[in-house]
This record gives sequence, structure tokens and C-alpha cells, in this order.
Amino acid sequence: MTTASDLPTLAPRPAPRAKGRNVMAVASGKGGVGKTWFSITLAHALSRAGRKVLLFDGDLGLANVDIQLGLMPKTDLGSVVAGRMTLNQACVPYTEGGFDILAGRSGSGTLANIPLSRLQLLGDDLVVLSNSYDKVVVDLGAGVEKTTRNFAQQAGTIMVVTTDEPTSLTDAYAFIKVTHMERPGTDMRIVVNMANSTREGERIYNTLLKACEGFLKISPQLAGVIRRDLKVREAIRNQTPILTRSPNSEAAADVEAIVERLLRT
Ligand SMILES: Nc1ncnc2c1ncn2[C@@H]1O[C@H](COP(=O)(O)OP(=O)(O)OP(=O)(O)O)[C@@H](O)[C@H]1O
Ligand SMILES: [Mg+2]
Repeated sequence: MTTASDLPTLAPRPAPRAKGRNVMAVASGKGGVGKTWFSITLAHALSRAGRKVLLFDGDLGLANVDIQLGLMPKTDLGSVVAGRMTLNQACVPYTEGGFDILAGRSGSGTLANIPLSRLQLLGDDLVVLSNSYDKVVVDLGAGVEKTTRNFAQQAGTIMVVTTDEPTSLTDAYAFIKVTHMERPGTDMRIVVNMANSTREGERIYNTLLKACEGFLKISPQLAGVIRRDLKVREAIRNQTPILTRSPNSEAAADVEAIVERLLRT
């Protein structure tokens, strides 16, 4: 487990302005908190709200947007890294959800070892690509590694996902701390996932908020609470988005409420 005190102390730097204002990255400290499922559902809900959306699989180690959706895209980030095509050409329409997807490279090995300079260029290309969309949702890998932070730095908004597990909360705090040190003023919002109830989720948020206010002097907003819901696992097992399979489930309603609030602000 990473604790906040294990992290390298980074000297605060002036905030480089977020380049992709309509890019929303979905991050977490600890893995397995529901980022990929949330990214897919967020992209789907934004698309249902009439926005032109791209879902970008930015988890270079274990890309799995395509797996949760049961897709076998012919083009992916691997094709771009290999120089066979541009980012733009590697996007495929996901007709079912009404949005585009830029898949990672889940079937054929990892992209985690791309040199940072190449990654930075990819990040720049992503920002250019984001001009063709209303919103770009980036599903990040867990943790605070350089590859993850590279994509996070392109985002106008970072959704930090946590659950009620103490390790997940500590690691979410660690992510927020590192991001704040690197880019003070970053718009970070908290998503509490797999909460036993909305109220319980809000309590979890308040715990994290207190730590952020006490130690970092920042107050990240609550994007929303998503309740624990068996329909989530069922949708993933069936490789169907929850907004298609169980649009009236609690978890689906919670994500739609998050999107409604997002589009209002
Ligand atoms: N609201 C929810 N209610 C119930 N189960 C959930 C919920 N959200 C996510 N899950 C469960 O959590 C599991 C992990 O989800 P997911 O793969 O999206 O997490 P992740 O954060 O992307 O993981 P990784 O860090 O490995 O990329 C899913 O298989 C699903 O069963
Ligand atoms: Mg994931």
C-alpha cells in the first residue's frame, strides 16, 4: 500500500495550464475501484445527453475498456505507437453507445514501457484530437506512475475514484497530493464508488475532504456517490454497458446524476 508519507516530496511548481479543457481523466490511487466501468458509463451518459464523446483507454498496463464492452477493435493505441496511424485514425465508433473509442492494447502486450518523450507527444496529440469532441473521457491506470500522470496532466478535470476502503482512501489522497504538487489548481473532483448508501458515500467524501483541507489546503468537490449495485457486475459479465442493460439500476442513475451536475457547471 502506498501511504502519503511514502511519496516523494515534489517541489510545488507553477500550474501549467490544462491543455485539454474538455478532457476528463478518471483516476484512482488504488486499483479495482471501478474506474473503467465508471469511464464507460460516464462516456455513455454524456453521449445520451447529446454530447460528442471519445472514450480513450489510457491504462497502458492493463487496457480493458474493450474487454468490458466485448469489442475487438482492429485499431488501437498500439497501432499509433507503432507509427502505423495517427490517433485520429485509430478511433473507432462504438455504435451501441453512440460514442467513439480509442482502445488500448489489451490483447497483445503492454504499452507501459513507451518512453516518456513518446508519451508526451501522444498526450499532445490527444489534446489536438479533443478539439473534435465535446468531451473526452480518459480511463487511467491506477496509481501515480509517470505514464498515468502524463495523461492526467492533459486533463481539464480529473475525477478521482475511491471506495470506502481505508487503503483506497489513503491512495486517493496520495494521488491528489502528487497531482496538486505537480499542478496546483488542477480541477479534481471526488467520486465515491461502491458506497453502501448515498449518505455513507458522503461521509467517505468528507473524510477525504478533511485530509485535503488540513494538509493540502484544497477542497476538491464531490462529483457524486455511486452506490454498490449487483447490476454493475452483471453488466460487465455480459460485456454490455449498464445504461443499455440496466438503465434503471441505482448505479446507472447515480452516474447519470453525476453527468447532469457536470453539464450544469
Ligand atoms: N458501483 C459498483 N457496484 C458494484 N460493483 C462495482 C461497482 N463499481 C465497480 N464494481 C466492481 O468492481 C470491479 C472492478 O471494476 P473496474 O475494472 O472498472 O475497476 P478499475 O478501477 O478500472 O480497475 P483497475 O485499477 O484494475 O483498472 C468490477 O468488476 C465490478 O464488479
Ligand atoms: Mg481499469
